[in-house]
Amino acid sequence: MAKCDFRSLPSIDEARNRHDKTKKEIDSRAVPPRVKAFAVGKKYYIHTYGCQANIRDEEIMAGYLEEAGFLRTENRSDADVAIINTCAVRENAEDKVYGEIGQFKANKEKNKDFILAVCGCMMQEEGKAQYLQKTYPFISLVFGTHNVNQLLSLINDVLINNKNLVDVKSFPGAVIENLPSSRLEDFKAFVNISYGCDKFCTYCIVPYTRGKERSRSEQDIVNECLSLVKDGYKEITLLGQNVNSYGLDLGDGSNFASLLEKVAKTGIPRLRFLTSYPSQFTDEMIEVMRKYPNIMKWLHFPVQSGSSSMLRRMGRRYTREEYLDIVKRLRQAMPDISLTTDIIVGFPNETEEEFEDTLSLCEEVRYASAFTFIFSPRKGTPAAKIKDETPNALKHERFDRLLKVIEKTTGEDSEKMIGKTYVVLVDGPSKKDSSVLTGYGENNKPVNFKGPSYLKGCFVPVKIIESHTYSLIGEMVGDPLIHKAKDVSYLMSVSPLFKEFLSISEELEKDEEIKELGEELIKCKKEMALSLDDKEKHSKAKEEYEKCLERIRNHPLLSNRESLISLVNDELMKIKELLQW
Ligand code: SAH
Ligand code: SF4
Ligand code: F3S
Repeated sequence: MAKCDFRSLPSIDEARNRHDKTKKEIDSRAVPPRVKAFAVGKKYYIHTYGCQANIRDEEIMAGYLEEAGFLRTENRSDADVAIINTCAVRENAEDKVYGEIGQFKANKEKNKDFILAVCGCMMQEEGKAQYLQKTYPFISLVFGTHNVNQLLSLINDVLINNKNLVDVKSFPGAVIENLPSSRLEDFKAFVNISYGCDKFCTYCIVPYTRGKERSRSEQDIVNECLSLVKDGYKEITLLGQNVNSYGLDLGDGSNFASLLEKVAKTGIPRLRFLTSYPSQFTDEMIEVMRKYPNIMKWLHFPVQSGSSSMLRRMGRRYTREEYLDIVKRLRQAMPDISLTTDIIVGFPNETEEEFEDTLSLCEEVRYASAFTFIFSPRKGTPAAKIKDETPNALKHERFDRLLKVIEKTTGEDSEKMIGKTYVVLVDGPSKKDSSVLTGYGENNKPVNFKGPSYLKGCFVPVKIIESHTYSLIGEMVGDPLIHKAKDVSYLMSVSPLFKEFLSISEELEKDEEIKELGEELIKCKKEMALSLDDKEKHSKAKEEYEKCLERIRNHPLLSNRESLISLVNDELMKIKELLQW
């Protein structure tokens, strides 16, 4: 084994503990000089597995690396620093990671300075770091979900000590603000509102890998959203393992309904949130969702099972009836709301009756789509210790039966969308066919339609002409150039440059002094014209005119405007080119 410093290792027992109240810290980063020197001309690569929490961690890590001077590459063999950001929620997510680690052996052979780092939820499991060091000694760095903000100092330690480093904390420190971020999209953004989870569902590893539930302050979240709005973002998705328990740990009266309302008021065109735990869904939340048109009428509402006895064994804190009651209230308030869910099949000793309860619940709720999983035992969780009598073949058979039931109702509801028009936020050309664009309607159903690629990031009305179970095919309504132009006007209204230019122009119109200067200038011009026959008089008038002109030139508002004109012109030329594309 290559030399390795095992600075800290994870402990599931410690991770189970729930320490102290939420504290806040501000990241006051400085790039270590050694890392800065190392980064010159070097590239980083990140591959993320798992959920949006991990994607957001990727963006933060990318932010740190770019501040240090690294450039991003999507090509593994080009990377000087590669990070594999892992997920531990099911075994199959882990298997893929081992395959990917192997592919980096060649980088190390080719380049002795190459740094492979493995991080994320899987590293929070006991024994994983030691196993990785033994099996893949070319992994330079292993860290966990609680020290993402130390990325640069960890890389620094690897460089300085010239040996591998494992540093995985078992429980989180403070909620850290002022994190750097290099977002993966420039029109859709994830915003963390809380980290961790205190629910401890009996099958789930997340409370151990992500630690205690801790909320960011309302002000920090709203400020992040406001700056996204200012940067022209079109959609924000608020993130937390349980968004509805947001704020309860802060003890200052913050709660999700009030946060949601404040974020809706930032003016972000589309607002979504993930994930809602059924027992804490309040009527206030329903009311806020209903009231604000920019809150999408879509809810990811994981049920896990339709059987109350199974839900009890899963440690979920609601019954089938309570879940269905919330669905009823949601639909009463928002008849068009689309619901999606997560379901686990094959929890230890699931009975036929319990499974059928899940089928009947799905028939009743009619989900727009469902993520279905076969139970995967996670070491350290209570469910992994249960002796399971259910044969694997039966679990797979039930899984297929469940899919059929979901596909039937989902397909029927998709068909009802034919002929209707939905506003789609365009993600860009589809992977399979570049002439086809793909995006999401308000109800979060994927819609594909033919259109030009410059519509990426625009809102486009699309009429549905064909339905597949999980996606729809449509045709654009109206002229694509007009949709783009509308978008350009939106951009103009949010662009800091145009905003400044327009506000100076507005001030100019109202300014009395400038008005007077303008009138004086006209007067001087007149004097000049009238004194053409009298040389002396004329040169005096000309002198006055030039003085006036000088005063105008030196006026701060006018000179500010002048200095912006060429930039505004350049920007408008770019827009013109875009529209001619
Ligand atoms: N916090 C979210 C989701 C977390 S994990 C929630 O509470 O809904 C995403 C999904 O993975 C879960 O909803 C669950 O359906 C599934 N999952 C979690 N642990 C699992 C396990 N051990 N086996 C199979 N699926 C699991
Ligand atoms: Fe896991 Fe349950 Fe927490 Fe969701 S609520 S992350 S399923 S423990
Ligand atoms: Fe996976 Fe961790 Fe998310 S286990 S699902 S990446 S919280």
